[in-house]
Amino acid sequence: MTPLPVAVVGVGHLGKEHARILSSMPDVRLVAVVDPNLSQAEGVAMRCNTRAAGDYRAILGSIKGAVVAAPTCHHHAVARDLLQHGVGLLVEKPLASSSEQARDLVALAKANRATLQVGHIERFNPAFEELRSRHLAPRYIVSERYSGFSGRSTDVGVVLDLMIHDIDLVLSLVQSPVASVEAMGVSILGGNEDMVQARVRFENGCVADLTASRVHPEPLRRMRVWGAEGYAGVDFAKRTLNLMQPGEHLRQGRIDTRRLDPATIMSLKTELFGRHVHTTEVDCSTRHDRDQLTRELDDFVGCLRTGDAPRVGGEAGAEALELASRILTSLGAHQWEGMINGAVGPHQFPTIAGRLFAPAERGIQEAA
Ligand SMILES: NC(=O)c1ccc[n+]([C@@H]2O[C@H](COP(=O)([O-])OP(=O)(O)OC[C@H]3O[C@@H](n4cnc5c(N)ncnc54)[C@H](O)[C@@H]3O)[C@@H](O)[C@H]2O)c1
Repeated sequence: MTPLPVAVVGVGHLGKEHARILSSMPDVRLVAVVDPNLSQAEGVAMRCNTRAAGDYRAILGSIKGAVVAAPTCHHHAVARDLLQHGVGLLVEKPLASSSEQARDLVALAKANRATLQVGHIERFNPAFEELRSRHLAPRYIVSERYSGFSGRSTDVGVVLDLMIHDIDLVLSLVQSPVASVEAMGVSILGGNEDMVQARVRFENGCVADLTASRVHPEPLRRMRVWGAEGYAGVDFAKRTLNLMQPGEHLRQGRIDTRRLDPATIMSLKTELFGRHVHTTEVDCSTRHDRDQLTRELDDFVGCLRTGDAPRVGGEAGAEALELASRILTSLGAHQWEGMINGAVGPHQFPTIAGRLFAPAERGIQEAA
């Protein structure tokens, strides 16, 4: 098989990983790594045994596909140019900075018959794949995604940085139009929003509560889903799926705690999980011998060759951005004091009643 000529555009934190994996694929030829920070590109090129370029326009005629892992604010311009030259793309998440830009890229990919995949990598998380294979029609979803401050992706807020993962996952699970969105959020570090809570109602009645923060002391990535069939909890970091379902006798209403004698109540307390509510944990962490990023890139390379639709195509990326944009609009209008002439949106706070504790109590020296 002739090796497929590809490039990686933007080889910072994530792009260098794409380059490393692509350079080791037998059916791929990594033509170049591209970054305006040439010394960064040269370092990655040396490790990946390829050439470095400061501008993707220098290699346009020699590639069939590219991974775009530049900062989000550059996705649209870079991806637009590459698609116009018929280059198939895997664009890191989010697909672009706005849903209008995303729609433009989707239309261009279609017009140029070019692959357009979006790097919503959690779709390749084996625990999420396991959830999708189960019979569970979501009625209520809670997603939580917390991280410390990474110093990266400051061109966007936490909605486009972290919450976009869960927005995509929720949309892929619910498969119903969005009926309403209510959100609130705050900017802690002065730029875009850093902490956001959003409630999304779908036309089929499902409700999703999404929370994301990028100023959190402990990282956490999890999703909990309830349906008539039972409950599923995904831990994206551990790659485990916890399942619970009521036993048949509970479903048939054969237990009524108002009519039980004290001894039966006691046994119900100790035997609730196991005998009455069945539980199981599925460990998916060792399911594949290749990591999520490699499997995402396998999908990309396969689609470039066959023209098949990727697992997460441009359309899904655009839909995620449409919902993200509604969340951003809602949090921008949130009235913290219940009135328009009070504090509104992520940059304004109501007057504080006082300090929760004195920093000196904990030996903390305050920043000037
Ligand atoms: N899928 C995931 O889980 C995940 C994780 C991290 C980052 N990302 C996404 O990947 C993208 C890059 O994030 P990162 O953390 O690697 O950022 P980064 O800042 O570490 O790297 C970005 C690189 O792009 C280069 N660059 C800047 N302007 C460019 C341009 N016009 N063309 C080409 N390259 C350019 C920079 O010099 C830098 O080396 C972002 O869109 C981010 O949202 C996705």
